[in-house]
Amino acid sequence: MAPPVSLDTGPSGDYEFTFESYLDDSLRLEAVDVPYHFPNDPIENERIDEQYDVLGMAMDGRLHCAPFDRQNPPRKVLDIATGTGAWAIEMGDVYPEAQIIGTDLSPIQPAFVPPNVRFFVEDSDYPAEFDYIHTRATSGCFSDMKSQVIQRAFDHLKPGGWLECQEFSATLLSDDDTISPDWPFKWWSDDFISSSRNANRQTEVAGDLKDYLREVGFVDVHETVFKLPIGAWPKETRAKHLGMLWQRNILEGLSAFSLGFFNRFLGRSPEQIELSLVEVRRSLYDRKVHAYHKFFVVCGRKPETA
Ligand SMILES: C[S@@+](CC[C@H](N)C(=O)[O-])C[C@H]1O[C@@H](n2cnc3c(N)ncnc32)[C@H](O)[C@@H]1O
Repeated sequence: MAPPVSLDTGPSGDYEFTFESYLDDSLRLEAVDVPYHFPNDPIENERIDEQYDVLGMAMDGRLHCAPFDRQNPPRKVLDIATGTGAWAIEMGDVYPEAQIIGTDLSPIQPAFVPPNVRFFVEDSDYPAEFDYIHTRATSGCFSDMKSQVIQRAFDHLKPGGWLECQEFSATLLSDDDTISPDWPFKWWSDDFISSSRNANRQTEVAGDLKDYLREVGFVDVHETVFKLPIGAWPKETRAKHLGMLWQRNILEGLSAFSLGFFNRFLGRSPEQIELSLVEVRRSLYDRKVHAYHKFFVVCGRKPETA
C-alpha cells in the first residue's frame, strides 16, 4: 500500500496553537446533546481497545495513510470520537512535536497520556483549525457523516491539511457465496443495519467516503480497502489470525451493539435480544461461511486555494 502523494504543499511550521487557546475557543461552542446508542462501560472500552489493535494489524501497523512521517510531521491533529484515545495517544508518542486533541461525547480516556495529547468532551464540532483530522470506527455515531464530519473538517482544516477516515461497514461479504440467508449472523447484520436506519445513525457509509470527500472539495483523495475476515476460515496464517481476532471482537461487542438499537428501534425486549444472540454467537464459529467486512481507509487534502 503506497502513501498517496508527498506533502510538499502541506502545512507550514508557523503555529500559535496551544491547548489553552483551544480551551478558550471551546467556550464559544454551545452545549450539545447527541445520543449514542452503544454503551461506554469498561467492557465496551476494553473491546474498543482490542478493536484498535485489530484494525492496526489490518493496516500492517500503520497509524495513518495521510502522507506524514517523522521528517514531515503533522502539527495540530484532531481525532473525532476518540473513544479510549488509543490512536491519539499513539500519535502523540510517534509525533512528539505535534499537539493532538481527541474529542468524544464521553470522558472515557485515560488520565496518564503523553504531554502533547489532550482530550475534550465534544461532538464532531470544534472551534480550532487543524492540519490533520482523523476518525476511526465511528459507525453508529453520526446521522450524516458527510455534513457532520467531512464538510466540517473541510471548513476547519488549514489549506493543505488532510482528513483521514478509517471506517468499516457492517455489510457482510463473501467471495464464494457461502453466506446463506438463514445464517444467524446474517439475520443479525440485516437487523443491525435496519435498526441503525431507524435510529438515524449511519453504519454503512464507509464505501461512500471517497465520493463524499471529493464532493466536498478534497483533492488527492486516496482509498485503501482492507478485508476483515470473520473467523478462522482463511487458509493463510496472517488472515486467519486477523479473522480470529475480528471474530472475537464481534462476539465481545454483540450485546453492546444490539441492546440499544434492537430495543429502541426494533421494539424487542432485552430478554428477546439476549436469547436471539445465543444462536448468532454459535453461528459465528461456522467455518464453512467465508464472510468478511470491508475496512476503508480514505484520506484527502484540502486544496491550498480553498
Ligand atoms: C467505537 S468508539 C470509536 C473509538 C475510537 N475512534 C477508536 O478507533 O478506537 C465510538 C466513540 O464515539 C463516541 N461518539 C459517539 N457519537 C459521537 C458524536 N456525535 N461526537 C463525538 N463522539 C461520539 C462514543 O462516545 C464512542 O466513544
